[in-house]
Amino acid sequence: MLQEVAMSIQSKTPSSWTSSSTGAAKHQRSWRWGGGSGYMLDLVASHAGISNLYNCELVAHAYRQQVNEHINLVGGDACHLPFKDGTFDFLIAKNLLHHLVGMTRGRSKKKAGDAIREFKRVVRKGGYIVLLEQYNEHEFFASALFYISLLFSFLNISIRWFGWNRKVIVSFLTPQQIKSLFAESGMRIELLRCYPLAVPRRLKYTLLMSKIGRMLLVATRDGIT
Ligand SMILES: C[S@@+](CC[C@H](N)C(=O)[O-])C[C@H]1O[C@@H](n2cnc3c(N)ncnc32)[C@H](O)[C@@H]1O
Repeated sequence: MLQEVAMSIQSKTPSSWTSSSTGAAKHQRSWRWGGGSGYMLDLVASHAGISNLYNCELVAHAYRQQVNEHINLVGGDACHLPFKDGTFDFLIAKNLLHHLVGMTRGRSKKKAGDAIREFKRVVRKGGYIVLLEQYNEHEFFASALFYISLLFSFLNISIRWFGWNRKVIVSFLTPQQIKSLFAESGMRIELLRCYPLAVPRRLKYTLLMSKIGRMLLVATRDGIT
């Protein structure tokens, strides 16, 4: 069931995804999704009939206006989630990990690991985590890109070429690194799909973003409810 849900989220075409197919409406399960205006959370909830929605955002004041008035917007850091253990049945995180950055690539990776451990903590036993994340297959270039974006951020320069605004620092992980972080946290990976992205020539030839893509990962926290 969850794989169907996850695939629908990935494709953003949830027409085949109904509350009867997920069974979620009966149980009114809570969701928490870190991100922005709550667009994806609203999409998921409206098709699955799920209520009790939480959206955790670092800069909550910037997203005061959620797309659905029933979403509980909570300010908080994904690396130290302001929720008790086992609060949620499902957790969705989309394009979050590569924004968790420190002053070095190593510290950035540690933050991604911290967030994944927090995801595990706040999901109940038997609950699910759905991760949608952009990846870079080359560790070397992902690391180079991190330091370039860090430098440009300090210099207050935007990198329009890469489609980034000022002050955006990115630390893309490789699919293997993401997989390892989940495995190290003790969660079981149920689904892992990578969707390579066709990149414009200008990005391809710099090599920095020549092999990027989107990853869909579904993991479970084993145990009895
Ligand atoms: C690329 S946006 C993705 C937004 C949304 N998830 C989406 O896919 O449309 C990354 C989001 O992560 C938020 N963010 C960055 N660091 C965070 C942290 N430590 N804890 C929670 N949210 C964070 C940013 O404020 C931003 O809204």
